[in-house]
Amino acid sequence: MPTTGLRFVAPRSSWRVSSTQSAPEGRIDVWLSKTDSGRRPDVRGRCRGILLEEELEVCSSFHQEADRNLALVARAHLRQSLSRHAPVDPRAWRFSKGLEGKPEIAGAEAAHGLEFNLSHTRALVACAVARGFPIGVDVEDTARELDPLELATRVFTPAESQALRALPPGPRKRRFFELWTLKEAWLKACGAGFSIDPRSLEFDLSQAGRVHARLPGEDSSQWWFAVRPIGVGHVLALAARCGPKVPRVRIRHSVPGDIDCYSQDRA
Ligand SMILES: CC(C)(COP(=O)(O)OP(=O)(O)OC[C@H]1O[C@@H](n2cnc3c(N)ncnc32)[C@H](O)[C@@H]1OP(=O)(O)O)[C@@H](O)C(=O)NCCC(=O)NCCS
Repeated sequence: MPTTGLRFVAPRSSWRVSSTQSAPEGRIDVWLSKTDSGRRPDVRGRCRGILLEEELEVCSSFHQEADRNLALVARAHLRQSLSRHAPVDPRAWRFSKGLEGKPEIAGAEAAHGLEFNLSHTRALVACAVARGFPIGVDVEDTARELDPLELATRVFTPAESQALRALPPGPRKRRFFELWTLKEAWLKACGAGFSIDPRSLEFDLSQAGRVHARLPGEDSSQWWFAVRPIGVGHVLALAARCGPKVPRVRIRHSVPGDIDCYSQDRA
């Protein structure tokens, strides 16, 4: 894995997006780290060097080694991702939590105006960073065994469930994860957690390459959405309340704990 962080810029064609807006672009950077790098003692050592004592205590409180490594990698990845966008030492970021637990930047460093959101699977950590508008990110492992139709009755609207039922099994599972991650990304952008019923918002993906949203109590024209596969085993969705801006999205890989590259990419 290169330490420069740059692996690929997502071709626009691989995204399914929502916007027809034409105002100047904002930007969203999505930083990805593979959690298996946390098995390497050198990576773990560098991650520990970035974290605060209380974060290290949380990481070491997990019973399973894989969970300890994931917690370590995720927290280091977040600090490192933010420091790529502002001249702040990764150790210096402080965080507070919103009503439903959404982490936000606290203290003096909040003045940099960065917004972020984090999502992880057992294999991948994704951190989305933007400036000046709230964002949410969700990444899911699409190899997971599940019954899309059964889950749909609990979290999807009748129209979404109907759209799923109309698809053959392979595309149905793919569509399930697209809808699921879009919902999670919006709920996470709002910081809503479990306080909003996921059946109160609806996505229509019937038009190729397009995302249409109906949102509870929100003007959906103020929101931008995108969803795309990441490699063969994951899908990632973004939600941003960026008004008329059409965000330009960059997706890049990094190794957690590599702080030598954090000065190169400040937005
Ligand atoms: C935490 C929550 C927001 C997401 O959980 P998840 O999908 O299991 O986990 P993800 O890996 O995507 O995100 C976890 C990260 O989100 C962040 N987070 C925590 N609470 C959050 C909130 N209220 N809003 C936004 N982000 C939050 C944290 O950085 C967290 O990382 P940590 O666990 O290392 O502290 C959870 O409350 C949730 O799933 N809410 C939606 C519930 C729902 O109805 N889902 C149905 C499917 S649409």
